[in-house]
Amino acid sequence: MTHTVVLCFILFLCFNVVAQLRNNGHRRQEWPVPYRRFDRRPDVDSYCEALYPFCPTGDPEGRIPYMRDSDVISVYRLQTPVWEFKYGDVLGKLHIMHDAVGFSSAETGTNYTMEWYELFQLGNCTFPHIRPEVYAPFWCNQGAACFFEGIDDLHWSQNGTLEKVGEITGTQFNDMAQWVQEDNQTGIYYETWTVRSEPSPNATVWFESYDCSQFVHRTYRKLAELGAKLSSRTQTNYTKIYLYSGEPTYLGNDSAIFGQPALKNLAMDIRKFYHPVQTSPVVHRLGS
Ligand SMILES: *[C@@H]1O[C@H](CO)[C@@H](O)[C@H](O)[C@H]1NC(C)=O
Ligand SMILES: *[C@@H]1O[C@H](CO)[C@@H](O)[C@H](O)[C@H]1NC(C)=O
Ligand SMILES: *[C@@H]1O[C@H](CO)[C@@H](O)[C@H](O)[C@H]1NC(C)=O
Ligand SMILES: *[C@@H]1O[C@H](CO)[C@@H](O)[C@H](O)[C@H]1NC(C)=O
Ligand SMILES: *[C@@H]1O[C@H](CO)[C@@H](O)[C@H](O)[C@H]1NC(C)=O
Ligand SMILES: *[C@@H]1O[C@H](CO)[C@@H](O)[C@H](O)[C@H]1NC(C)=O
Ligand SMILES: *[C@@H]1O[C@H](CO)[C@@H](O)[C@H](O)[C@H]1NC(C)=O
Repeated sequence: MTHTVVLCFILFLCFNVVAQLRNNGHRRQEWPVPYRRFDRRPDVDSYCEALYPFCPTGDPEGRIPYMRDSDVISVYRLQTPVWEFKYGDVLGKLHIMHDAVGFSSAETGTNYTMEWYELFQLGNCTFPHIRPEVYAPFWCNQGAACFFEGIDDLHWSQNGTLEKVGEITGTQFNDMAQWVQEDNQTGIYYETWTVRSEPSPNATVWFESYDCSQFVHRTYRKLAELGAKLSSRTQTNYTKIYLYSGEPTYLGNDSAIFGQPALKNLAMDIRKFYHPVQTSPVVHRLGS
């Protein structure tokens, strides 16, 4: 009950912006808008500061160890609630699941965890910063893949899931590793919201989210494509944050909206819309 209150608060804020976008339509668009891929990952702006360092125990270059083809690699499904928070004196508990994939080499006995998450925490991927010296809303919303040695068995199994879902060969693992590097170079921005026309299952999806669970799905799909047979005994529930709206309309990019005096009112409305979010305790806690 109480967590619904908090969610509605966030949804209400965002609904306004999408509703505004909608009133100014000028071209037909395909839904959902395909996730935009880039040629390479840009350097992070020094304004963005991480509360926790990204991937502290991973290889600094993001390298993934090479496996011999004769090796048998076990694949694990990992899931756990990541955070919960309290909003004011209304006790709200909101469980967001975090998903990852685990690997364990039969030949070396070494195991590994692979996950995809925000460089600057969830709050920064959900709302932009309104900065006095920068006119357009400013985002610190990169997300990336992290591959590191070890599986924290206790962490995943105690309040979540640690389940073996199959075995792959060393070659399948190496091919997957190469795909992960490419995916990591080209898919660089975290997208929190799934935006749909309505709650019913038939709803049109305007925008898909791009987050840790999407990465896990892509990885399973890639492994299946490489010939791996994976299966889970239990149903997996994924956390999604939905936003419902009428059909959105594309109004222009940053330079168009924030660079043209003719669109000053729209630019000011967008800044005003995001301003209260900056000072909201909810958003601050989204990252903790
Ligand atoms: C978000 O980005 C700001 C600015 O870089 C930073 O101060 C903050 O620690 C980041 N994380 C959260 C949770 O807000
Ligand atoms: C993905 O990109 C991030 C950011 O550049 C980097 O820190 C990380 O090591 C990369 N991960 C992999 C598995 O390549
Ligand atoms: C990971 O390796 C450690 C040490 O070898 C082992 O105790 C643990 O059970 C392994 N975890 C998995 C999921 O294989
Ligand atoms: C599991 O949940 C309990 C109760 O919320 C908590 O005390 C414990 O630290 C959690 N365990 C892990 C490994 O996160
Ligand atoms: C979804 O679409 C199907 C087929 O068009 C229809 O039979 C069904 O009633 C729809 N369900 C809802 C909840 O609108
Ligand atoms: C997933 O959600 C369904 C419906 O809410 C629930 O019945 C089921 O127990 C959940 N499964 C897990 C593993 O949490
Ligand atoms: C922004 O949009 C304008 C006009 O639609 C276009 O000319 C420009 O190349 C775009 N800029 C970027 C960075 O995409």
